[in-house]
Amino acid sequence: MNAPPKPLLSVLAGHPVWPPPVWLMRQAGRYLPEYRAIRAEVPDFVALCLDPVRAAEVTLQPIRRFGFDAAILFSDILMLPWALGHGLAFKEGEGPVLPKLRDAAAVDRLDPTQVRAKLAPVMETVRRIRSGLTAEGFDATALIGFAGAPFTVACYMIEGGGSKDFAATRALAYADPALFQRLMDLLVDATVDYLSAQADAGAEVLMLFDSWAGVLSPTLFRTHVIAPAQRIVARLRVLHPGIPVIGFPRLAGLMVGEYAKASGVAAVGLDTGMEPHAAVALVGGDVAVQGNLDPMALVAGGAALRAEAASILTGLRGQRLIFNLGHGIVPQTPPDHVGALVEQIRAA
Ligand code: CP3
Repeated sequence: MNAPPKPLLSVLAGHPVWPPPVWLMRQAGRYLPEYRAIRAEVPDFVALCLDPVRAAEVTLQPIRRFGFDAAILFSDILMLPWALGHGLAFKEGEGPVLPKLRDAAAVDRLDPTQVRAKLAPVMETVRRIRSGLTAEGFDATALIGFAGAPFTVACYMIEGGGSKDFAATRALAYADPALFQRLMDLLVDATVDYLSAQADAGAEVLMLFDSWAGVLSPTLFRTHVIAPAQRIVARLRVLHPGIPVIGFPRLAGLMVGEYAKASGVAAVGLDTGMEPHAAVALVGGDVAVQGNLDPMALVAGGAALRAEAASILTGLRGQRLIFNLGHGIVPQTPPDHVGALVEQIRAA
């Protein structure tokens, strides 16, 4: 007998599923005491991402608690610059710290030939998650692999960490377009390689996180968000026909329609501010939507959470929806609120 299809894969393949499949960005993380316990054993976050036993374990923790429709590989978008030899450290309370890439010599120093070897432990994590899901009976849970989209990865490499507006990155894109494009081309190739290796290891869906896409002008959005996504999706489609890609061009605003239509993604992630009807009208019927509950409603819980979730479920009823947040879960989220949200969605 054939196993019933996984709801997330059905939606991505073009079939509406109701109640919609649900998973949450950053579903493995500090809001869970069982994550904090493992994290305490490995103070270095990069080391945790390179520890297949522990990374697979923290990936499975939220699935055991909440029965999500997807598990997302536990790693980080900044593991790619790390594997390129760019350097990466996570400082307590500060977030990621990287060297600042500002000139051609810094791009010349990046070494794409080592990426597969250096990220081999991440592929081992993917294999362990797949077998763990099967062993624990989560037959309906799909495994999502991911990478940062080239622009967002470039943002952290150029800025040297987080920023409120990525001003140095945007300034470089205007001032030295040839250098910027060379970095983007290198990141497109490395991203295809990295995502392809994840698919080989057992990822069933691939997601591209473009968290800072929305800081760009429409012109640069086309060049550095839509075009790279289009190139990555086209090459993955040849290498792995049938593996869908979810794109998340956060804060894209009106550009979300052009992104959805031109990039070739199977679904587009909507950030918190996207009005569901307007988003669907822009995205069109060929692409599913994922989102877009405010992570702060999940912190608040109670009537406010129920009302916000209900407005997404009502607004997108009948559409190809993957229920998610508009951005990642924050550490102060009470796990009980997540449980209540999943119950509400399952009853929709
Ligand atoms: O559960 C999952 O979603 C899978 C794992 C995952 C992490 N980061 C783990 C993580 C995923 C998919 C990411 C993506 C990611 N990482 C993005 C894109 C999505 C987004 O949030 O916009 C970005 C921009 C990053 C870069 C990054 N990683 C930052 C800025 C930080 C510091 C902020 C913070 O929350 O601490 C991280 C660290 C990080 N990545 C943590 C986790 C669980 C926290 C680290 C810890 O345990 O101390």
